[in-house]
Amino acid sequence: MFSPNSQTSKGAIGIDFGTTNSSIAFAGCSDEVQLAKFPYFGGVTDAYRSLLYLQQVKEGGVNVLKSWTGPDGIEHYLAADVKGRLIQSLKSFLSSRNLHSTEVFGRRYTLEDLIARILRDLRERAEHQFGIKIRSAVVGRPVHFVGAENKEDDGYAEGRLRLAFELAGYESVEFEMEPVAAAHYYESTLDHDELILIGDFGGGTSDFSLVHVGPTIRRRGRVPGDIVGNAGVGIAGDSFDAKIIRHLVSPALGAGSHLRSLGKILTVPNWVYIRLERWHHLSLLRGRDVLNMLRGVHAQSLEPEKIGALIHFIKEDLGFHLHRAVQKVKCDLSNDPAATFQFSDGFVDLRAMVDRTSFEEWISEELGQIARCVDSLLNSSGILPRDVDRVFLTGGSSFVPAVRRIFERRFGEKRIRGGNEFTSVARGLALKAMDLRISRFG
Ligand SMILES: Nc1ncnc2c1ncn2[C@@H]1O[C@H](COP(=O)(O)OP(=O)(O)OP(=O)(O)O)[C@@H](O)[C@H]1O
Ligand SMILES: [Mg+2]
Repeated sequence: MFSPNSQTSKGAIGIDFGTTNSSIAFAGCSDEVQLAKFPYFGGVTDAYRSLLYLQQVKEGGVNVLKSWTGPDGIEHYLAADVKGRLIQSLKSFLSSRNLHSTEVFGRRYTLEDLIARILRDLRERAEHQFGIKIRSAVVGRPVHFVGAENKEDDGYAEGRLRLAFELAGYESVEFEMEPVAAAHYYESTLDHDELILIGDFGGGTSDFSLVHVGPTIRRRGRVPGDIVGNAGVGIAGDSFDAKIIRHLVSPALGAGSHLRSLGKILTVPNWVYIRLERWHHLSLLRGRDVLNMLRGVHAQSLEPEKIGALIHFIKEDLGFHLHRAVQKVKCDLSNDPAATFQFSDGFVDLRAMVDRTSFEEWISEELGQIARCVDSLLNSSGILPRDVDRVFLTGGSSFVPAVRRIFERRFGEKRIRGGNEFTSVARGLALKAMDLRISRFG
């Protein structure tokens, strides 16, 4: 429940805790929405990177564990001579019952503690900016969390996210599906009613909702039947990044190469490269056991320079830089038919030209799963593509041309809209929070 003393008298708060980026929005009485702004490398951004950086710092001769989140986390990570732990995409682990906690510099932290650290900073910064105390909010959740196989997994993940909010000092949170939130935002731009299909493509999940929206619906008050259906898959930008690493990076670091052991020719263990594809998430590769195993492989390898490069990558903790290079080529390929992948740190030098067609082949399985999810939502809702008035595509991965094409093929270019790709969900959550506030407290 919203508590009137904790919710500001002036408006209501929506929070989009994203796999890659988070946003926090404030809706006032007249539907105007403000976004919290965060300093970032001399400029400002309303997309706060959902990352956490932990580092041991000597203070008065004693080691003290310090942590930073968002843009501060990136700046401290880049400035550190000896790198600490940089953790990203935490939201993707919420459904995982195996990942209860992780050890950082000898201390164990639960996943909820780590997420709460980000959510607390977001709250305090927004409080400072909006001049209010934030104790309650409407918060987004994907239709299905990454890795969730059934309703119980989704419930478990949502429960953990709620706990993280509580640990971060929020007294009450109410969840809304992220694509439904995007529909609330889209609706605020309309002067007539529509049946819309929302496609929200983020870092972790692709989410869809079919919703009746518009001024008449808002005036009469929403009813559950306005949401015709929701669907989602745990496939989005992070999965695309993984494929770029698989094709451009792993082979140069020895994936598929051979070693000679006890007179036999064996292939280098593949699990290291599977972890490399998602390495930046939790930087799980740097354990002593992995490095020792790789030193053994290096000694027996038929291509030792490649395994040497992999060891260098892991020892120097280059996951963040690698991820940045991958993001760059992916984003360049959204604008241009070809782009250069480049990673160089003086020891390892990776450079390759990639064309969009190759990238689209690498992610064809993921694109197929996304397309099937859209089709099954239409089928199960009994809606034909011609019944849909508009398609609103949002989220950073909606910039990928092959993702847009899925919709162009089914609905035609003219019906497709986009905009506020990184903030539409937070904006819509704030609008929903304001609607709830008005209906409860007048
Ligand atoms: N121009 C671009 N082309 C392709 N991908 C992009 C582009 N810009 C951003 N992305 C990708 O979009 C993703 C981030 O989008 P967004 O901020 O909407 O996700 P999120 O809300 O954090 O994730 P989720 O909704 O899954 O929890 C990242 O994978 C990023 O690489
Ligand atoms: Mg999102």
